[in-house]
Amino acid sequence: MIPQARTRPPAVHPGTTVPGDGRPALPGVPSGVLGTIGGTPLVELRKVLAHLPIRVFAKLERFNPGGSIKDRTAFTMLTAGLRTGELVPGRSVVVESSSGNLGVGLAQMCAYYGLRFICVVDARTTEQNIAVLRAYGAEVEVVTAADAPDGEYLQARLRRVRDLVRRVPHAYWPNQYANPLNPAAHEQTMGEIADALDGRVDYLFAATSTGGTLRGCSAYIRAHGLPTTVVAVDAEGSAIFGPPAGGRLLPGHGASMRPPLLEQNPAHHVLRVSDLEAVAACRRLAAAEGLLAGGSSGAVLAAVARHADRIPPGAHCALVFPDGGDRYLDTVFSDRWVAEHFGDVSHLWKDAAVPGTDETTGARPR
Ligand SMILES: Cc1ncc(COP(=O)(O)O)c(C=O)c1O
Repeated sequence: MIPQARTRPPAVHPGTTVPGDGRPALPGVPSGVLGTIGGTPLVELRKVLAHLPIRVFAKLERFNPGGSIKDRTAFTMLTAGLRTGELVPGRSVVVESSSGNLGVGLAQMCAYYGLRFICVVDARTTEQNIAVLRAYGAEVEVVTAADAPDGEYLQARLRRVRDLVRRVPHAYWPNQYANPLNPAAHEQTMGEIADALDGRVDYLFAATSTGGTLRGCSAYIRAHGLPTTVVAVDAEGSAIFGPPAGGRLLPGHGASMRPPLLEQNPAHHVLRVSDLEAVAACRRLAAAEGLLAGGSSGAVLAAVARHADRIPPGAHCALVFPDGGDRYLDTVFSDRWVAEHFGDVSHLWKDAAVPGTDETTGARPR
């Protein structure tokens, strides 16, 4: 049965206007694609962790127009610059380091506002992401020399950004790693989750890289006195919360340094998830829920399963799923890539498909 149309919760920005366009927005009709940022669906996952006595809700950030949670961050950071006059369409040049989602969010916004955008990526950025950036009209600078000796690129990318900011006239660097507007964007994300669950959020699981999501959601939780236990989900090969335990393959969550936004860790618990755990969880989500989710969403789901024996029965657990699986078809969802990196591991998701009943799926009977 086709689910009944639901009223979407209000987007972050119910209406945006093109500079110089005096036409008022029609009620309920976003004026431009940026008006659809936020207000993403929260869905209950009834199958993939059905063996656990808890309720699991996923905030599906892929429903933002650029395909990820980073649309919120891009919007909040750039509109501030436009408002203060630091950013001027037709003159300013936005420069940022991103291997994926923030770059796409910024490229989308810069196209809308007529801003030139230079995105600094690295040799690990996928062809597909670079193609998406270019499709929006962004200029792409690829850093090919990794930071010795760890094989990460973050410091090299940031050096290139600083160099461009020095050389390009009217350059503007949002600096997602240190900009307080990055976490500020996610107070709204958490507000939407809390509203959807009538304030009953016992646990929040959030993947972490810049710390924007974690810090913004935690700030909302504190400001509204919610009794929520916050769990940060990091990658095993990341240096955010301590020395890395090996390398990491998946982009998105994790970082090769402690980001300035996380000098103080707002989480109650930190769980580090391996690439294989994240991949297996993505595959289980696809098989059981029909939900194609990105690598960090898989890491978040794996973290819930790992933490489950510490979660009281009946608890409401909210999971932030930052993006969709479409950008991971050559990695997480490629049998060849998985076999190359992990061997034959398909048994980890073989039994994941759960035949659905109206009760387990929540679908209404015909
Ligand atoms: C797919 C994905 N997951 C998780 C994160 C981490 O989010 P944050 O930077 O807010 O910590 C990002 C950030 O870019 C991401 O792209």
